[in-house]
Amino acid sequence: MTILDQIAAAGTLPDLDAVRVAALGKSGEITALLKSLGGMTPEQRAVDGPKIHARREEVTRAIAARKTELEAAELDARLATERLDLSLPAREMPRGSVHPVSQVMDELTEIFADMGFAVAEGPEIEDDWHNFTALNIPETHPARAMHDTFYVNARTAAGDDYLAGEHERPMVLRTHTSPVQIRTMLGQKPPIRIIAPGRVYRSDSDATHTPMFHQIEGLVIDKGITMGHLKWTLETFLKAFFERDDIVIRLRPSYFPFTEPSAEIDIGWSMEKGRRVVGGSEGWMEVLGSGMVHRTVIEACGLDPAEWQGFAFGTGVDRLAMLKYGMSDLRAFFDGDLRWMKHYGFSALDVPTLSGGVGA
Ligand code: PHE
Repeated sequence: MTILDQIAAAGTLPDLDAVRVAALGKSGEITALLKSLGGMTPEQRAVDGPKIHARREEVTRAIAARKTELEAAELDARLATERLDLSLPAREMPRGSVHPVSQVMDELTEIFADMGFAVAEGPEIEDDWHNFTALNIPETHPARAMHDTFYVNARTAAGDDYLAGEHERPMVLRTHTSPVQIRTMLGQKPPIRIIAPGRVYRSDSDATHTPMFHQIEGLVIDKGITMGHLKWTLETFLKAFFERDDIVIRLRPSYFPFTEPSAEIDIGWSMEKGRRVVGGSEGWMEVLGSGMVHRTVIEACGLDPAEWQGFAFGTGVDRLAMLKYGMSDLRAFFDGDLRWMKHYGFSALDVPTLSGGVGA
């Protein structure tokens, strides 16, 4: 076999290296030819020299080319053994579970996203202006006391005894998600359609109140918005959330400083096999606060209330979860008891979708 045939026939990198040593190594065939140049007459060297050098070149190039081929084949073989088929079903079920609050937040996001709402966020340590003043709750307003506010008593770098917000008042742990309405209106131009889910804080604790809980806020700002839009949106949302078409709602006149008029939304319930379930209208329970955004609030955000109107709503996410999935003690939500989580938690693979059903 010629050297070039041997190179082509080498099936592995070590085989190829053996051919290389036999040709170009210290006592290799081509090395011997090169050495023979020394003993030649100048005339003979002028004839044979270029031939021998060309031969060495040819063999060197063939070895390099074969080496590249063999390396590529070796890599392919390795990749083939390391292949992982990510489309295979999981053999072991994931061990953790999704907390009902996270599950319900995902459900709410899915439902409102389908109606064209984006998700907005704001800080949990909020300043007094965004949490109260801009929402038409002035300093002397009794609603401030109603909210059982936590004040943040952090010292500033300058040594003041509280962390002052923009308007020189102590910072608060936000008592509701409504300040996100303000931040959104200040931060983007209408039309606006957002929901703002998140943690809120009030100094309160019993079976249905915890110092930290979750709310979701909704805000729509556009031209020609009426309470009809508000009612349709909330009815559509509640039907999708509870996955029942027989949901009946009732708007009950109410009061919030930042909406005018304001309405509490009651959902009808009925008795089914001795249990109270949503749907029908044998009785009523309150599920949402809502109303038309107060013109003072729209003005505080630099918009002209003659041009822009809108509605807002807010509700407790934990309470929605309790109603839908039947837990009775809110405090258990935040105990971190694994037995409770195992019972009420959701599978990590069970992502709520409108097509697959938002309920698990
Ligand atoms: N922020 C109110 C609360 O915490 C709920 C609400 C939001 C009411 C938006 C009306 C409009 O009780």
